[in-house]
Amino acid sequence: MKKPKISVIGVGYVGLCTAVGFASKGYTVIASDNVAEKATKINKGIPIFHEPGLQNLLEEAVENGRLKCLINQTEKAVFDTDLTFVAVGTPSNSDGSINLQFTELAAHDVGKALNKKDAYHVVVIKSTVVPGTTQDIVKPILEKESKKKCGSGFGLCMNPEFLRQGSAFEDTMHADRLVIGEYDKKSGDALESLYEEFYGKNMPPTVHTSLSTAELIKYASNSLLATKISFINMIANLCEKLPGADVKVVANAVGLDKRIGPLFLNAGLGYGGSCFPKDVKALIACSKNLGYRLSLLEEVESVNEVQPLRAVEFCKELLGNNLTGKHVAILGLAFKANTDDMREARVIPIINQLIKEGANVTAYDPVATPTAKTIFQNKIQYANSAIACLKNADCCILVTEWEEFKKLTPADFTKNMKQPILIDGRRIYNPETFSKKLKFTAIGLGK
Ligand code: UGA
Repeated sequence: MKKPKISVIGVGYVGLCTAVGFASKGYTVIASDNVAEKATKINKGIPIFHEPGLQNLLEEAVENGRLKCLINQTEKAVFDTDLTFVAVGTPSNSDGSINLQFTELAAHDVGKALNKKDAYHVVVIKSTVVPGTTQDIVKPILEKESKKKCGSGFGLCMNPEFLRQGSAFEDTMHADRLVIGEYDKKSGDALESLYEEFYGKNMPPTVHTSLSTAELIKYASNSLLATKISFINMIANLCEKLPGADVKVVANAVGLDKRIGPLFLNAGLGYGGSCFPKDVKALIACSKNLGYRLSLLEEVESVNEVQPLRAVEFCKELLGNNLTGKHVAILGLAFKANTDDMREARVIPIINQLIKEGANVTAYDPVATPTAKTIFQNKIQYANSAIACLKNADCCILVTEWEEFKKLTPADFTKNMKQPILIDGRRIYNPETFSKKLKFTAIGLGK
């Protein structure tokens, strides 16, 4: 059977991984993005962000003509293909609600293309949108522009994405589950058969549901994961007040309970990235509009707001309250390992506070330094290696759990720093070994 041609509107993390994923399995994919620079890079086989495993497959897909990216030509991409994934960004408004301008623009263009097409075409919303969006906003736009009825003229699905940055490609190729929100059975079945062909024997468990349930599943998943993190960070803060207590041991033991599970119980400096902070806020705002206050999630957010500042408090405790003129080394800038993304990275409030308190900051990250330069400019120094970052520092804060930082030994700190003081913000070092050799403190470690 001939493989359907796929269009992908918006090539952020979700869009690009979807596009490369389908191209790598032999599908012809036409993407479109309104940022010319992104499209140009993709067409040269250059990924627009750091993501393990993506580079080779992107190069291959572009070279063998399976993937091309148009500049702002949604209509053409849709017209020339059989099924469309919409994966445009949904940024936050100032009140935390999501901004649907890109989703709406895409829907208008997709609808115009559908108007010119005779064949049945399925539109799949992959962007994270609050419950009700696909049914109440996207569908009417598509119907108006296409002059067709949803269901008979075209199909409509909401298919949230659960990939993580840093393992985005791996997650795309081996999903835990597929959620297919469907306008009608015909739309959902069409998308399911595409995935059956894509995954073959490894087809993940699939949930068919309504459009708004699918939208809510995405928010409920991210909000629950964020809740686990804020919960364990709260327990970490309690551990620090209990001599001998250690949140890592608590989390390991708690996670052994099958009903709880061990994942997402790593205490640290809080969650960042382009998803959890935005999605928790958006769900709170969406529910507020419906007249229901999500008070638990409000608390999840406030724990996350103050958590990074624990690192600065530690710094002051260890350096004697006044940070003026002190040299602080920051290891890790990315919001998590294996990415150069710094959106909502917890290091941002940490560095801002250190600067406010008069400290001199030097930072190092294996890949996120160019991103950091656009945020902090010359307000901080940038080192070329972890060791260079530690040179003459009065204190070091470990912020991101990169593998290369895990390999550092106590001697790396004692030999290079002015004062060997280490704050482990992600619990990657063994407290016993490190506290023997240097002044060591860590999130969730009782004094
Ligand atoms: C998250 C979800 O994990 C994905 O399933 C989802 O598809 C994605 O958002 C999205 O909505 O697009 P991501 O933001 O890439 O993925 O990163 P995570 O690995 O979930 O980490 C988020 C933040 O939580 C990071 O800052 C990380 O350091 C922090 N975290 C994670 C902890 O502090 N503790 C943990 O135990 C786990």
